[in-house]
Formats: sequence, C-alpha cells, structure tokens
Amino acid sequence: MITRRKLIAGNWKMNIMLSEGLKLANSIDEYINSQESPDCDLLICPTALILSDLSEKLINSSIAVGGQNCHAEISGAYTGEISASMLKNSGASYVILGHSERRHGLNETDNMVQLKVTAAQNAGLNAIVCIGETENERETNQTIAVLTKQLENSLPSDSSILNGTNTIIAYEPVWAIGSGKTPTNDQITEVHNHIRECLDKIIGEQANRIRILYGGSMKPDNAASILELDNVDGGLIGGASLNAKDFCAIVSAID
Ligand code: PGA
Repeated sequence: MITRRKLIAGNWKMNIMLSEGLKLANSIDEYINSQESPDCDLLICPTALILSDLSEKLINSSIAVGGQNCHAEISGAYTGEISASMLKNSGASYVILGHSERRHGLNETDNMVQLKVTAAQNAGLNAIVCIGETENERETNQTIAVLTKQLENSLPSDSSILNGTNTIIAYEPVWAIGSGKTPTNDQITEVHNHIRECLDKIIGEQANRIRILYGGSMKPDNAASILELDNVDGGLIGGASLNAKDFCAIVSAID
C-alpha cells in the first residue's frame, strides 16, 4: 500500500512583508525543531517578492517555500508577470495554481490553469492545483460535476507525466475560504474520494501517489478531524497560516 506523506501548506496571499515574514518563518521553524520531527512536509507560500529571502533563511530547515501563481510562458514580454523558472530560481519548489481568488477574481479559466501547470512542472516545480465549487453550485447539487470538469481540464492533457512529486490537488470550496464555514466531514470525504477516483481514471497507476489537500477555513480546532479523513493528505491554510501558533497547532494536529 502506498502511504502519502501529509503536506501542511501556508498560503500567505497578499499579506506579510519581509521582516514579519522572516520572523514568522523562524517561529515556525523553531517550533518544528522543538518537536519530534513532525511526520509531514511543510510549505510556506509568501509573496514572490520575499521568496528568495525566505528560502535563504530556511535553507537548513525542513520547511519548503513556494509561489502563489506563475505565468504559462517561459519568458517574454509579459509585464508584471513571473515565470515558473523565476520562482524556481528564487528557491521555490512548489507553486499554487488556479486558486479560487484567481479563478473568480481574475477570470482564470481551466485552460489557463492547465497551461500554467505544464509550465510549472516543466520548470521542476510541484504544482498545487486548486479546484472548488461555489456556494450556489453546492446548493444546486453541481459540486461533483463542477469539480470533475475543473480537474479534467486543469491538468495537462499528457497525463503520463503526472506523478506524486509534480502534482498535488487542493480541494477548496470557494464558500469555505476565509469564511469560517467548512463542509461537513462527510462532504469532504465524498469529494476527496471522488477526486481520487477521477485521478485513477485520468492518470492510472501514479494516481495513488498524488496528494489531495483540503483548504478553506482549516483552523486549529477543526484540523485534527479533517486531517484524519480518508484521502485527505494535508491542508492548504490561509488565515491560520499568518500566525505561528495557529499554523503550528495545525501541524501538531497530524496524528
Ligand atoms: P483560509 O484560506 O484558510 O483563510 O480559508 C485558504 C486558502 O485560500 O487557500
């Protein structure tokens, strides 16, 4: 049987400047070192502007750093954009792609996400591909259909290249992000099992190695019960990752 190592990832979004970020990363690192080494992978995704400082600071740490987005092209006349290889060059090993704040706030389509995932993987990054239904889609029983479509259309069409070290899926219900609301554990299980089945169909043998994270108002008080669910291989944490105590409490919630 394949065991998937859990991943706890902090998405700092457009928060936290350099000095605060270095302090926060340091507190998390100190906490990790004071524990029996936590049985999980850890990731921080800060603004790209402080990525290289953070990655230097964490060079001897087990905490990885990642980007929050990248452009689909390798280089060129794309003012204001950042390529996957630039992230990699700044010390990133992961990148979050297709976050709902980009899909809904910036009109990112599945097709755009698919091109970015390919670019990220070509640059040697592990792509965290976000999918999630809106509240209206959940209320009108479209959740499974919407997620299936997002998953199929956001992953590269050449599925033979997908594996456990270049692809992660994050299920983030749009209505749960930053709202304090979460799906029930049964709803999370239903979705994560469905994503696993879809991955099996799309990828075959390697599907079992791909981690599926839950994201959306994961906090210290609900983390343990979510992280122990079948096919929940970690968490993508927004608000609670901005505070060392909360983020570390979530890491500690892993059995
Ligand atoms: P949240 O954000 O934990 O603040 O809900 C999660 C995310 O957007 O990745």
